[in-house]
Amino acid sequence: MFDTIQFQYSGETLACEKVKLDELAATYGTPLYVTSTQSLVDSYQSFERAFADLPHFTCYSVKANFNLNVISTLAGLGSGCDVNSGGELYRALKAGVKPEKIVFAGVGKKPEEIAYALESGVLLLKAESVSELRAIDRIAGELGKNASVAIRINPNVTAETHPYITTGDSKEKFGIDEAELAEVFDLFGTLKNLSLRGLDMHIGSQIFDTGYYVEATLKLLDIFNSAKDLGFGIEFLDIGGGFPVTYDPKKPATPIGHFAEKLIPILAPTGARIIFEPGRFLVANASVLLTRILYRKRNHTGKEFFVVDAAMTELIRPALYHSHHEILSVKRHDTTIVADVVGPVCESSDFLARHREIDAAGEGELLAVLSAGAYGAVMSSNYNGRLRPAEVLVSGSEAKLVRRRDTYEQLVQNEVF
Ligand SMILES: Cc1ncc(COP(=O)(O)O)c(C=O)c1O
Repeated sequence: MFDTIQFQYSGETLACEKVKLDELAATYGTPLYVTSTQSLVDSYQSFERAFADLPHFTCYSVKANFNLNVISTLAGLGSGCDVNSGGELYRALKAGVKPEKIVFAGVGKKPEEIAYALESGVLLLKAESVSELRAIDRIAGELGKNASVAIRINPNVTAETHPYITTGDSKEKFGIDEAELAEVFDLFGTLKNLSLRGLDMHIGSQIFDTGYYVEATLKLLDIFNSAKDLGFGIEFLDIGGGFPVTYDPKKPATPIGHFAEKLIPILAPTGARIIFEPGRFLVANASVLLTRILYRKRNHTGKEFFVVDAAMTELIRPALYHSHHEILSVKRHDTTIVADVVGPVCESSDFLARHREIDAAGEGELLAVLSAGAYGAVMSSNYNGRLRPAEVLVSGSEAKLVRRRDTYEQLVQNEVF
């Protein structure tokens, strides 16, 4: 089943929950991100149901969609947060997430970010190198604090996904190699401002095969047992995120229950508190990117283009990962054509879909790019002098603006001229 259930046609017009998308475009303009609150609730609850039999703590990975309202909606359901920078920590705290529900990841934390995390009182700082552990110890000492840390392990598992989003392979920059762990454990004898409270991994994103999780988790458990033998009281095992969603109905994602079925029996006996960090799973199918067709054109070979007002600057996933996003016409049509959907940016990689069968909508009409909630708005940029888009959150028949569109003044506000 394709899980964009909150975006359905109401009569002839596509709607988000009970709000028609053409009305939102008329009020807020395009390009516009539209997010369904109910979809956030549904995905969070389906994740929680799947892992209900395992004592665990879900930390929404804020990098997937860091809008304050999205964070606070998920936090309101009980979620904590996984953050990857001082900026994301700031956002999570601003959205009202309690510091003791925040875990801080990142392969290159700056000293001021470490200090910010320690002063805020986050649950865990996840360290990714020996040098970082020394830095955390030093900064904690200067602040007169004891730092709760987890070690991010690189389990050397190459999950089959796009090469840019596999992170558990030893040729990647992430985590600490198993070979280095003896040195790391020794270090805790000398670094007096650290408490080792967790072990962590994150093997990548949009992973369909449960086997990679099992393989990596078993490696993590071996390390957990060695750490226990050495006298460390590890309370948390953080399995990371990466759980997949359906972008293309022809390639349905592995249901979350299948991951739970495989992971619960091996994690439950540990007695540790399990942390999950889903990002994409919770937000991808909760948003669409609404865009208007500026021009239709056909070249001498007969190839058709929809030139729309959204671009790689609003949704870079097709350009960066060749990702598939379903595209629907907001007004239903009886006929279809095969076309490229392209944006106004001066790059050939600026496309939202290539050679796609799509409703034969006309100039001035609206298209909705589905499954745009994860790694969409957060990766938007001002390249080509473009204004980052507005964002709207829908709940039933209510819609509220949750991010204003950039202005021309904002484009230059930080420049010293
Ligand atoms: C450490 C960490 N945790 C969680 C996530 C979330 O991944 P996903 O959105 O695939 O669930 C990421 C994504 O890059 C990550 O780096």
